[in-house]
Amino acid sequence: MTVKKAIIPAAGLGTRMLPATKTIPKEMLPIADRPSIQYIVEEAIAAGIEDILIITNRSKAALEDYFDYHPELEERLARAGRDADVKLVRSTADMANISFVRQKETKGLGHAVWTARHFVGNEPFAVLLGDDVITGERPVIGQLKEIADREDAPVVGVQAVSLDAIGRYCSLDVEKVADRVFSVRDLIEKPKPHEVYSPYAILGRYVLTPDIFPILENLSPGYGGEIQLTDALAKLASQRQMLAVEFEGRRFDTGSLEGYLECVIELSLRNPRCGSWLAEYLKNRAKTL
Ligand code: G1P
Repeated sequence: MTVKKAIIPAAGLGTRMLPATKTIPKEMLPIADRPSIQYIVEEAIAAGIEDILIITNRSKAALEDYFDYHPELEERLARAGRDADVKLVRSTADMANISFVRQKETKGLGHAVWTARHFVGNEPFAVLLGDDVITGERPVIGQLKEIADREDAPVVGVQAVSLDAIGRYCSLDVEKVADRVFSVRDLIEKPKPHEVYSPYAILGRYVLTPDIFPILENLSPGYGGEIQLTDALAKLASQRQMLAVEFEGRRFDTGSLEGYLECVIELSLRNPRCGSWLAEYLKNRAKTL
């Protein structure tokens, strides 16, 4: 299979980052010099994805504006001779074919993915969760795509997480089939300690096939009274081969304050605009802690 499309669910309310996210979508909070969602879009593009659908809600118009032109600003910058900045401002609108759909009710990740069915049509597609910024030598969604292309099966991106943390994610019942590749037998969302299958949890990246949509359409609400993507995946895994890839990369949960701050520090240290300055600042500051 060849994956050309990606969806980025970004319709969450951002309640873990209040009060900042009262009026600013959490995906627009800056990590060094760009909003966190841009890293996710860049990951998709680096993996050869051409069409991206961002799933938003009515309080997230700033996301649509960010990936559009801004004629007034561009004109001002051009008049001031700031041609490099004109290019920079326009680049976010031109980086890919980005479109938007709104999830009208906050009914869970599975429901958000289901709202993308018309965009997806009858093709395989990538899902990159808007909260999860992941860095790595190779784009993580590309690592999943490779296996999906080769094995012609849906693939989820997993890493081992601690027993203390796994209740915040999901847990997979897996069998190893190759280096870093597992066959998925079952999955459970937000497991209680006695329900944990393995330390492997999905961390924000999926390559799915359109047969997930009829399952989502008929799914009853699960954990938290929401339509859970994990529940639909459990059903899909009982019907066809599904794989999990233990991806190489570091994932930041930018929807939490700690994850967001770690991400800001790590990616700012790698940013040519501020990396060496920040390293120097942190070294000096650490002496006084
Ligand atoms: C979602 C998924 C969960 C996954 C997690 C991290 O949970 O439902 O299975 O492990 O993202 O990618 P949420 O963060 O929306 O609670």
